[in-house]
Amino acid sequence: MAAKWLKDAVFYEIYPQSFYDSNGDGIGDIEGIIEKLDYIRSLGCNALWINPCFDSPFKDAGYDVRDYKKVAPRYGTNENLYTLFQEAHKKEIRVLLDLVPGHTSEEHNWFRKSQEAARNEYSDRYIWTDFCFEGANGFPYVGGESERSGTYILNFFKCQPALNYGFLKTEKPWQLPVNHPSVMATREAMKDVMRFWLQKGCDGFRVDMAASLVKNDDENKSGTSAIWLDVRRMLDYEYPDAAMVSEWSNPPLALRAGYDMDFCLNEKGRGYSTLLRDYMNHNGEDHSYFKKDSGGNINRFLDEYLKWYEDTRNLGYISLLTCNHDTIRPRFNLDETELKIAYAFLFTMPGVPFLYYGDEIGMRYLNLPTKEGGYYRTGSRTPMQWEKSANLGFSTAEAENLYLPVDPAADAPVVSEQEQDKNSLLNTVKAILALRHRYEDLQADAPFAVVCSEPDRPFLYRRGDLMIAVNPSGQILETKIKDNPEETVFQIGSCSVQGEMLTVGPQSFAILK
Ligand code: GLC
Repeated sequence: MAAKWLKDAVFYEIYPQSFYDSNGDGIGDIEGIIEKLDYIRSLGCNALWINPCFDSPFKDAGYDVRDYKKVAPRYGTNENLYTLFQEAHKKEIRVLLDLVPGHTSEEHNWFRKSQEAARNEYSDRYIWTDFCFEGANGFPYVGGESERSGTYILNFFKCQPALNYGFLKTEKPWQLPVNHPSVMATREAMKDVMRFWLQKGCDGFRVDMAASLVKNDDENKSGTSAIWLDVRRMLDYEYPDAAMVSEWSNPPLALRAGYDMDFCLNEKGRGYSTLLRDYMNHNGEDHSYFKKDSGGNINRFLDEYLKWYEDTRNLGYISLLTCNHDTIRPRFNLDETELKIAYAFLFTMPGVPFLYYGDEIGMRYLNLPTKEGGYYRTGSRTPMQWEKSANLGFSTAEAENLYLPVDPAADAPVVSEQEQDKNSLLNTVKAILALRHRYEDLQADAPFAVVCSEPDRPFLYRRGDLMIAVNPSGQILETKIKDNPEETVFQIGSCSVQGEMLTVGPQSFAILK
């Protein structure tokens, strides 16, 4: 069963490069996160996920890890990170690090050793064919870069050789079975990395490409799942409070593999993508449910979600997110009012929600050249906008020395202004998250049931004793309801009940009791 504290957890994802620069070198750092813990708490977030902050050549923004146990000097020292754990805990904020178990940087020492011609402890740590001109049987591979006569398999970019967790079905002599001592050693090495940080006070991990470990796996990912179940046993025994969230986007498989939470990711054609970013499903035409009058339909999301929810409600949590470091910011196609309603929905659903830094003020997606392997993702990774001062309060460095430029628009949203405005997106986020903490019925475990999802009607759902009404359209929508709510707990726009009729105004959202 999932760690208890997740019941009322709301996560804030921090891209460390871009959150707050405490020493004026143009890039965010761990001390900067420590300085902003009160801000994070003021939002109503009580947990963090920090993208990889480990030593790396940064060809994939840190997802190419060179040393799992060392904080990258540009963010500070290991001691700074230990201090972050302590300071966060004082404020009742938990901290998840990002674990990248599927691959390392090509500059990791394990890989350097693995490249050597003479056999050694690390020869099988990565997946090598037996001959310099032998392809990898359909897997992406690199040859010609090592003394060793063989080619090696990649997990993502060219700089990210795949770690060897074995093959469920072996087809070539160089493919080791999942119980081979060499591949068991890879698994133990990753557990050792986890223990290292957990011992220092980290509260768990977001796991990168969690489904990618075992190659030639079956449809149910039984090879990879067995590894995670083994990790789960270790955690249950040694760190029962630790939490794990997977980048898998298949809650039935991920939660059965022992994860506490799994993300719904923004993949083309999938339910989650129809809520905020439907333009990606049809070459630009946008029928996102939360886009005003776009002809969206909540059932495109619910069809997939409800199956997952029914299947997994006793296993763990589905995590809905506003965005992440790989995804176009929701402000790209939605305006502030649309975002308010979208977030109100995301934050009142079951499971554990994730807020991506800057989405709380509606930071824009910027069109920028690629940085550190970001490509289109770079535009969602720009510096946090704190106030209307130099570099929007992110850093005291010269503008040209910033990791990425800040939003140049005169009306770039900033925290300090939105804090002053009662109706701002920021204050709306705070109000909804405060309600989520106040009402157990809005939290991860409380029952969820769809009451109405017909087109041209308000979307209605129950969380425990509460009823929630959503209308992202520009029209007034009505529907008959059975039991008469007595009180409006929260509303955006308007919502009223007369007799059996519930009327929800244009672009409105309400929580009724
Ligand atoms: C995940 C990360 C992404 C990274 C990739 C390779 O998808 O979220 O940022 O590039 O894995 O590690």
